[in-house]
Amino acid sequence: MKNMLIISGSPRKSSISSKVGQWLSNKYHLNHFDLSEYLLPLFDDSVHTADNPIVNQFKEKVSKADAYIVITPEYHGGMSGSLKNSLDFLNKSFFKDKPTFLISVAGGGKGGINALNQLRMIMRALQADIESRQLVIDAPIWNEEACINELSSLIDTFVKKNSLDKSGYSEDVMGL
Ligand SMILES: Cc1cc2nc3c(=O)[nH]c(=O)nc-3n(C[C@H](O)[C@H](O)[C@H](O)COP(=O)(O)O)c2cc1C
Repeated sequence: MKNMLIISGSPRKSSISSKVGQWLSNKYHLNHFDLSEYLLPLFDDSVHTADNPIVNQFKEKVSKADAYIVITPEYHGGMSGSLKNSLDFLNKSFFKDKPTFLISVAGGGKGGINALNQLRMIMRALQADIESRQLVIDAPIWNEEACINELSSLIDTFVKKNSLDKSGYSEDVMGL
């Protein structure tokens, strides 16, 4: 059974990326790894090998999943440094050929595309099977009807395309 994981890449406690991730997690019954709750340490080889519990939890959740929705905020015209740092703990064996949908959350001043482009480059280096469709969400209106409809429509299609059904989305969420 396929298992889709949402990764929210903002470290901020009041993160909108986190809210979008939680909304998707509830609607589609997906696992959610939220960096605003579980922030990884700065990557280096010693931390990498030192059995850090959050790093290990992140690695386990990513390795168990076989499809992803990755959400990055746009900060200063780029993707989240915290998310890039987290992905540096992984390698292509985690993501190789796995369907991956990219979302960015931006301030609403026509930002977001640079964060998506950077995230796309990183996910390509990790050999993910990146969906061609992608979405920028404007933080101030993220939960307005038009925005929710667009988000739902794109994720419905992504989910259907990857043959996931509600009963099999997530072992953790379904309590199995
Ligand atoms: C440090 C910082 C830099 C930002 N830079 C940009 C930017 O370059 N372009 C943009 O559209 N929004 C920018 N924003 C607005 C954020 O994208 C917006 O607040 C969004 O909600 C951030 O995602 P988060 O709430 O998940 O952290 C910035 C916000 C912060 C805190």
